[in-house]
Amino acid sequence: MTTISSVSSLISSLGEIPPETVVFGHSETMQSLRERMDKVASANVPVLIQGESGTGKDIIARMIHARSPWRTGPYVKVNCPAIPGTLLESELFGYEKGAFTGAYGTKPGRVEMAHRGTLFLDEISELDLSLQSKLLQLLQDGQFCRIGAQEDKKVEVRVVCATNRRLEEEIETGTFRQDLFYRINVVNLHMPPLRERRGDIEELAAYFLEYYNRKYNCRARALSADLMSALQKYHWPGNIRELENLIKRYVILGNEEVISSDLVGREQEYFNPDINLDGPISLKKLTRQATRELERKVILRVLQAHHWNRKQAARALSISYRALLYKIRDAGLPPNRSKRRTEAVAGQSAAAD
Ligand SMILES: Nc1ncnc2c1ncn2[C@@H]1O[C@H](COP(=O)(O)OP(=O)(O)OP(=O)(O)O)[C@@H](O)[C@H]1O
Ligand SMILES: [Mg+2]
Repeated sequence: MTTISSVSSLISSLGEIPPETVVFGHSETMQSLRERMDKVASANVPVLIQGESGTGKDIIARMIHARSPWRTGPYVKVNCPAIPGTLLESELFGYEKGAFTGAYGTKPGRVEMAHRGTLFLDEISELDLSLQSKLLQLLQDGQFCRIGAQEDKKVEVRVVCATNRRLEEEIETGTFRQDLFYRINVVNLHMPPLRERRGDIEELAAYFLEYYNRKYNCRARALSADLMSALQKYHWPGNIRELENLIKRYVILGNEEVISSDLVGREQEYFNPDINLDGPISLKKLTRQATRELERKVILRVLQAHHWNRKQAARALSISYRALLYKIRDAGLPPNRSKRRTEAVAGQSAAAD
């Protein structure tokens, strides 16, 4: 039997959402995303939120619910990869007594729990094809069937889906239904990666600094200009989650050195990419990043060989002096040898060679 407390434990609490100014920042992309989100929140249409891990898909889903006419109703989040495939159907759609061995009572699924509220399906690409067709039916006529039930049930529910995969590619490989994609993709919100909204890094960092100072009762000082410029240059594969964790660590340790050497280390790892064959790979992007890193290493090596004499280094590299100055800045290298970060960068580079 399902008790009230086990039902409510399945319904996620909304948790704390950072202020809107922090969430959306100033970039044009985020401003138009905010407009789209505001428009779609009040309409009962499915929304698909796409974006890399850590870009804020969860936050946006919660904001959509909080701005919708169903905000006083339940917000039910289903983290699809966290529930084993065999259990997912009963978790989502529930079951009747005797539907299978061990089904001693009836159990409503999360779809039912979300009645007159929002059902947030996180990492939707994890649903297998049979669950995809049950979800399609739900989206088409609001009906679904508990496992072992004779009749369909009807619910009113706003469905929000999220994924960090390219569903278009999953359709091509036959693992995601095209008709379901059209159904869930009525409105698409694409979360930009943090490296495409670098203008917001400073404000986000300041927000997390204040937040964690308060939370842990610490007094970590504002970040130095050096560290801030390293944050601006970094590629942020883990996006805002990575930035948040970095600032959290800084607040707890109160030491910038640890953070900056950590960043250099992560950069080195990044350019020896451990390519994940299960996820999407952008050859173009990888090649561009590898070229930039190679350029950075060559410039650094030549600068060292010429005792940081930039005129000589430019000649050796067969580029103009101005072009070299630009490239030094662009690669995040220190402008001259006396800068503090030189040793760290050179040390890391030597270790990697
Ligand atoms: N725009 C933002 N403003 C403030 N904090 C953010 C923002 N986006 C993400 N965060 C923070 O970063 C962390 C990750 O965000 P979230 O869980 O929403 O990402 P996600 O896109 O759902 O990631 P995943 O694909 O891994 O589930 C959270 O702790 C959240 O508070
Ligand atoms: Mg998420």
